[in-house]
Amino acid sequence: MKAAVYHRYGGPEVVSIADVPTPAVGDREVLIRVHATTVTTGDWRARSLQMPAGFGLLGRLVFGVTKPRQPILGTELAGEITAIGANVRSFAVGDRVFAFPGAKMGCHVEYKCVREDGPIVKLPSALTYAQAAALSFGGITALHFCRRGKLQVGERMLVNGASGNVGSAMVQIAKAQGAHVTGVCSGKNVALVESLGAERAIDYAKEDFAAGAERYDVVVDVAGTAPWSRSKRVLTDKGRLFSVLGSFSELLRSFGNRRIIAGPAGESVEDLRALAALADGGKLVPVIGATFPLDRIVDAHREVDSGHKRGSVVVTI
Ligand SMILES: NC(=O)c1ccc[n+]([C@@H]2O[C@H](COP(=O)([O-])OP(=O)(O)OC[C@H]3O[C@@H](n4cnc5c(N)ncnc54)[C@H](OP(=O)(O)O)[C@@H]3O)[C@@H](O)[C@H]2O)c1
Repeated sequence: MKAAVYHRYGGPEVVSIADVPTPAVGDREVLIRVHATTVTTGDWRARSLQMPAGFGLLGRLVFGVTKPRQPILGTELAGEITAIGANVRSFAVGDRVFAFPGAKMGCHVEYKCVREDGPIVKLPSALTYAQAAALSFGGITALHFCRRGKLQVGERMLVNGASGNVGSAMVQIAKAQGAHVTGVCSGKNVALVESLGAERAIDYAKEDFAAGAERYDVVVDVAGTAPWSRSKRVLTDKGRLFSVLGSFSELLRSFGNRRIIAGPAGESVEDLRALAALADGGKLVPVIGATFPLDRIVDAHREVDSGHKRGSVVVTI
């Protein structure tokens, strides 16, 4: 089968298409014919080793000290089951599913095996394969931070970086949980962010949210430009910072501090089910900013490297 592979760290050009063995399905696994996957900022970090300040060494330890340990990127996928293992009970051949191997990656392929008790859920009926492939990375992150940060109905949230993958999911999920959301993005994305449910979108080139009179119960920093030192000025007395993209020192500062929520989001099948339910109910519609076929995966990486993609970059297979 075809796969996008990389064997050294670097720019988009280190990724190429290669023939690799099609995996054989295990007893408790399903084999998925992948129809769509994404290139995310997680793939960008694993490919380039560009890590948030202070995380450089950790990046090498996680992804491979001298070269990538996992040569196939891709955290999420959607497709159709074409074979099942002898002991599989919850899925059948023909089922349309989406899956989120997350940090284990390996989704930039034509076929992928996933354990039936792993991070795999049937496709929400309202979504296309492309949309379902774009549901998990941002959605899981948004759910994780809202849960850890105990987001309450009626709270006022500011999302800094609202038009990207995590931000566009956060705006919709926080709104679904009863929050009042303000988004921060560039001028070209103001209309998009408001269409996702933000009551207001601030163009960061024209207005500094940290200098404004508005106060928020939660600031979500997805862009990395709203650390505690800046966000605290606009937070209420008990307001919290969700530091989705924070430095190592911000992570250290979060230990024992209930007002800073930082660190990596985990992966759980319960959260995937919650995302499917939100999508089925029309409350979460993944934003797709660009779509590329697998043989143009290098261009998909370039789009992600820009730092200004809208929502997800989808790769169709
Ligand atoms: N903690 C975790 O578990 C976790 C999980 C997922 C991701 N992350 C991290 O979160 C970060 C964002 O991920 P993502 O996938 O959402 O990235 P993304 O899709 O590239 O979105 C980033 C967004 O930031 C906006 N932006 C750029 N400069 C800005 C500024 N000065 N002020 C406000 N917004 C600005 C961009 O919007 P415009 O184009 O409108 O400028 C862009 O849409 C990544 O660094 C990733 O590593 C962390």
